[in-house]
Amino acid sequence: MSYQDKVDKIRQDFQARINSLKLTDSSLEELRVEFLGRRGKITHLISKINEVSSKDRPVFGQLINQLKQEVNDKYLELKTRISTLTGEEVPTISDPYLPGDYFPVGSIHPVEQTTQEIKRIFASIGFSIAYGPEIDDDYHNFEALNIPRHHPARDMQDTYYISDDIVLRTHTSNTQVYLMEQQKPPLRYIVPGRVYRNEAISRKSYNLFHQIEGLYVDRNVSFAELKGVLEYFVTQFFGKEEKARFRPSFFPFTEPSAEVDMSCLFCGGKGCSTCGNSGWLEILGCGMVDPAVFEMVGYDPEVWTGYAFGMGVDRLTMLKYKIEDIRLLYNGDIRFLRQF
Ligand code: DAH
Repeated sequence: MSYQDKVDKIRQDFQARINSLKLTDSSLEELRVEFLGRRGKITHLISKINEVSSKDRPVFGQLINQLKQEVNDKYLELKTRISTLTGEEVPTISDPYLPGDYFPVGSIHPVEQTTQEIKRIFASIGFSIAYGPEIDDDYHNFEALNIPRHHPARDMQDTYYISDDIVLRTHTSNTQVYLMEQQKPPLRYIVPGRVYRNEAISRKSYNLFHQIEGLYVDRNVSFAELKGVLEYFVTQFFGKEEKARFRPSFFPFTEPSAEVDMSCLFCGGKGCSTCGNSGWLEILGCGMVDPAVFEMVGYDPEVWTGYAFGMGVDRLTMLKYKIEDIRLLYNGDIRFLRQF
């Protein structure tokens, strides 16, 4: 192919590219690179001019320079056309009737929503809020709560040990001990927080969950008061229509002890797989503070009386929103979380 033919060929290529060119900044830039860029077709051909005989060189030199000029002119023309086009298409004052931009917003996690609601209910009847350590010593998590080492009651809670003496707390009850060690009665607190149990993860249990502990110590505190406060809580949280029941139970740190069950909101109390066909779901443990615990913290059990309770926040959340699998609360699936 003669040098002249090569020049003509590039001119044709360029024309063909122009005819089908999309008028956007990026495709115009591609075009520029293809023909005028450092490795572009025209630049390449110019570099080959010394392969032409010195006699023909001036003529061909002129030819290729002319082509370069044409292509450059066209390129500049298209570039101006694009900027005026976009100038027209994006008016500087946008239509004030257009809906605003959409910015995704997060939502408060359902467990945190429940926690806030419970705090609000207890604050309204005079409880203060306290927090305790999640990594704790054996003494505060167990021993001071009347659960000695090697006592069978330890089996009630599968524990993560960090060392012989340090555990991830298995319940928020550890904070009862700190509160009583640090303050003189009367005291009235709730303690929200995370707790950990070495349990197999399933639809119903997770190895991390949330509790809210309650503790009230004063003179002449009665079980009737405990019952009244928890009934108030249940009606505030679930509404008057839902049924709750007290059932005798055992905890080493309370005597007498009880558990509160809600009628199963999944099946309306008829019995289903979630409530193990009983029609009831346990939501909290409670009782009168055991005199042995008072002795551990240096309160005189002849003078002081009190009640305590501990509720499962995840359980309450699941009941309230009819969530059948606890893992949904922890796997961060945005399709689930968006619903709250
Ligand atoms: N700590 C108990 C648990 O995690 C719950 C509990 C029961 C807390 C009775 C209390 C109580 O304060 O009085 O299973």
